[in-house]
Amino acid sequence: MLSLVIILLIVTIVIICRWYLSYVHSSLYWCWDNGNEEKRIFIDTDNISFPENFLWGTAAASYQCEGPGDKVPVASNWSQWEPAGIKHGQRCGMAVDHYHRYKEDTQLMRTLGCNAYRFSLAWDKIEPIEGQYDKDILAHYHDELKELHRQSIIPMITFHHFVHPLWFEQRSAFLNSSNIETFVRFVIDMFREFEDECHMWCTINEPEVYVSGGYFNGVFPPGHKSQANEASLVLQHLLQAHVEIYDNIKKIARQPEQHSIGIVKDIFQFDPWNPLNPLDIYASRILDHGMNGCILDFFRTGSLKWTMPGSIHRTYVNLRAPYTNDFIGLNYYSHFLIRFNLFKQPPFEILHRQDDSGSSLMTDMPYALYPEGLYRACVRLKNELPRIPIYITENGIADRYDDRRHLFLRRYLYALSRAINEAHCDIRGYFYWSLIDNFEWAEGYHMKFGLYHVDLQTQERTLRDGAKYFQYVIQKHREKYEKKNL
Ligand code: BGC
Repeated sequence: MLSLVIILLIVTIVIICRWYLSYVHSSLYWCWDNGNEEKRIFIDTDNISFPENFLWGTAAASYQCEGPGDKVPVASNWSQWEPAGIKHGQRCGMAVDHYHRYKEDTQLMRTLGCNAYRFSLAWDKIEPIEGQYDKDILAHYHDELKELHRQSIIPMITFHHFVHPLWFEQRSAFLNSSNIETFVRFVIDMFREFEDECHMWCTINEPEVYVSGGYFNGVFPPGHKSQANEASLVLQHLLQAHVEIYDNIKKIARQPEQHSIGIVKDIFQFDPWNPLNPLDIYASRILDHGMNGCILDFFRTGSLKWTMPGSIHRTYVNLRAPYTNDFIGLNYYSHFLIRFNLFKQPPFEILHRQDDSGSSLMTDMPYALYPEGLYRACVRLKNELPRIPIYITENGIADRYDDRRHLFLRRYLYALSRAINEAHCDIRGYFYWSLIDNFEWAEGYHMKFGLYHVDLQTQERTLRDGAKYFQYVIQKHREKYEKKNL
């Protein structure tokens, strides 16, 4: 009798576990057209639509694409970090000389059909010596903005995209709370300078990536490793700076209601490798909270709680925070699967799916193709920060052979459309990363994210075949509304 009960119990547990696994699986992974699961519906990726005034753009950061311009290269945290911190000892150098070629590049945006462009101001070039702004560089950005307007491209400016002047780095950058006001002062001055030419502003690009690269993994300057205390402080100071920037701009703007200001948050989900293993679940939750949850909580509640089990618990409260985003910029690339492993330091591994489904296809970066994650990230923002519009401020694929870009765009744009139409997320635009191949930080020039391939010797740009789907979607979108409005 007892053995019968035990057998029944085991069978029940197995059934429940299998049911749970298939439930988790189907909520994490969609059945794409190469799927093999009978019960789920195959996806028609042509079935997409976007709101009429949707912004279609590309995104870039000054350091990654501009090159030094007309002057000798100025010193920044990144120029100092090279080449030792870059794969194969590469240097950013001329990059793709966007500084001189912005007119031609704006024309490339038009060729794609884009109507928006996100780029960052090079603080290192603008203020190479503390307190002295370089008038030529400011004039250059005025010219670039003028050209964007001339070609009907709406600009979105980022104030901090990983790079700042060396003098700021030498004073410990955002690790030192007294430097916050220096950055805020720079931002206010830039806002005053450009407020007539730009109405969309991103304060800080991916604070948690800047923090983890610089103070955890050591792959970004200043290259510190596993410094939980520093990392949590830097994160706090960046968020503090964001709030101050928002409040200051709204105070000084001539027409505050005309200006939209937001932070750019990257959401890389951390999912458990084995959804039945409590240790995998625990490790993935800790990581997700440290990289995503704590920042979203801060903007929902005003309270930042950053925890590293067994070492740091940092709390910072700023009740203004929930009112300081007119939009959220969402950067989305992929997700990670986390497996707890006591023999590793830190005690987990990052893995990727290994099966024959589309979601286990890898990009050249160690990221899986995971459009479902873009949908999940949009829904998460909608739930956790309700009523704040979203722009997809970055999404793109490193694809040297251009053999996955078409599929990437097809599926991610489908996921985006589904987030808008099925989950009713208020998404106002999509910026592909990036217009042209560029300097991919610690990875150097090996990662080819561009819709346009560039020959670094001749600087010639060529549209990639895989990118044509982007052009096609934008064109269809325009035609649809043109017909409707006839
Ligand atoms: C950054 C970009 C970077 C891209 C691709 C984002 O985290 O904002 O600067 O090039 O990812 O790795």
